[in-house]
Amino acid sequence: MQDRMRPLIAGNWKMNGTGAALEQIAKLKTLLEEAGNIESDVLVCPPATLLHRAAQSAEGSPIRIGGQDCHSNPNGAHTGDVSATMLFDAGASHVILGHSERRTDHGETSQAVNEKVQAALSAGLIPIVCVGETEAQRLDGTANQVVNEQLSTSLPDNFGKTRIIIAYEPVWAIGTGRTPTLDDIAQMHAHIRTLLVSRFGSTGENALLLYGGSVKPSNAEEILGTADVNGALVGGASLLANDFFSIIVAT
Ligand code: 13P
Repeated sequence: MQDRMRPLIAGNWKMNGTGAALEQIAKLKTLLEEAGNIESDVLVCPPATLLHRAAQSAEGSPIRIGGQDCHSNPNGAHTGDVSATMLFDAGASHVILGHSERRTDHGETSQAVNEKVQAALSAGLIPIVCVGETEAQRLDGTANQVVNEQLSTSLPDNFGKTRIIIAYEPVWAIGTGRTPTLDDIAQMHAHIRTLLVSRFGSTGENALLLYGGSVKPSNAEEILGTADVNGALVGGASLLANDFFSIIVAT
């Protein structure tokens, strides 16, 4: 295993939170201040409507703010969509792309994700590209192949010039309270690492591989201690500052 990289603990609020939820950012800020030296980078991805206010609330703290999706064009006639440029302007540093809920709810293909990744990079955002198999694919033994295909199409060639962040999120583990075994997580992360190194060389070696899917305060330490796991993408347990903080300090 390579030298330990500084982990990233990212919270994906999904379609949760109105103005009142900003209290959780203020609370997290206080918890991080009180804790002092934190060994992870911390990112919160609120809904787009809260992004600007969340960035203001996080000011002066190590908390960074990210979007949950972006359009592949910087502007134009795309009613209801938000561009990477707009996310950056609102205070985002990162953007989650290709989440399985986007792939399922909006029929987002890996080719579409590829275009969004390029848009994010042009706008100065760091993309977090999500991949992961369904339960049927895990059971029929095609999980590695599915992740291969998602990765090879979703990542543009120029991705290798920047910091790569991939989130492995098995679809069947999202919001279910179920997680793969630690061996299965290690196996998939090693597989992803090999693919990234063969395509992007040393940038692949230094890629951050996050695990996502039912990460909670109770399982964070063992998951984050697994080989080739460089952080977590946390859904439900990122909504409350106390729970999210427990995961952050589990690294
Ligand atoms: P849960 O942590 O709620 O399972 O969600 C994971 C996820 O989809 C993060 O992007």
